Amino acid sequence: MLRLGVNIDHVATVRNARGVGYPDPVRAALLAAEAGADGITAHLREDRRHITDDDIARLAAALTIPLNLEMAATDEMLGIALRHRPHAACIVPEKREEVTTEGGLDAAGQFERLVPMVRSLAAGGIRVSLFVEPDARQIDAALRLGAPVVELHTGRYADLEGEDREGELRRLADAAALAMKNGIEVHAGHGLTFDNVGPVAGIRHVRELNIGHFLIGEALFVGLGDAVRTMRDAMDAARG
Ligand code: PXP
Repeated sequence: MLRLGVNIDHVATVRNARGVGYPDPVRAALLAAEAGADGITAHLREDRRHITDDDIARLAAALTIPLNLEMAATDEMLGIALRHRPHAACIVPEKREEVTTEGGLDAAGQFERLVPMVRSLAAGGIRVSLFVEPDARQIDAALRLGAPVVELHTGRYADLEGEDREGELRRLADAAALAMKNGIEVHAGHGLTFDNVGPVAGIRHVRELNIGHFLIGEALFVGLGDAVRTMRDAMDAARG
């Protein structure tokens, strides 16, 4: 079965635009769970532009489905992860000026720095995932780091069109097959919508999709429950 992780960061973006207490990302997470989300993803960015430390504490306390904490590879984030012990931690690259996570983690280039990070998270009972480009070098680094999961960055796929998109889809499928062959579980996400999710959901080695921005936007029109259910249906239809 292909799991759906719902990223609720942008509920917090709307809240923070006014500096008030609503809309509450924890309420959104519980609603998404009720509508069939298999997990909740939240990115605690270093600048706290959306999700806050308090949100993570409340999510960890309230959720009965797995929490996936997206985090930069810093000592501060490691401390927070070990304090709240989410089910999973996805290590992402982070640049302060970017509007969203641009490109995957260079697990190969930052190998030495990631070794103690992956080890500490795993020792804390947290399932480590590395958010990487669909590239054999990065899969190999994940394998050498002992990461049980990779999340393939689908941002480039989402941005491209026509033959270029087909080519990127093949890169995703090849990377997924390579990871799977080496015993690494494969997730994918970034920029996925009702219109482009099908081909990614159809890659049979992919076990989980993490989807946020589009679902939160769609929720404005149809409600979060409906948006999550429609995405689930699109994923299931692609899977056959
Ligand atoms: N996966 C990871 C690792 C991400 O950083 C993000 C964006 O926060 C997503 C998935 C979801 O991307 P989107 O919000 O474009 O659906």
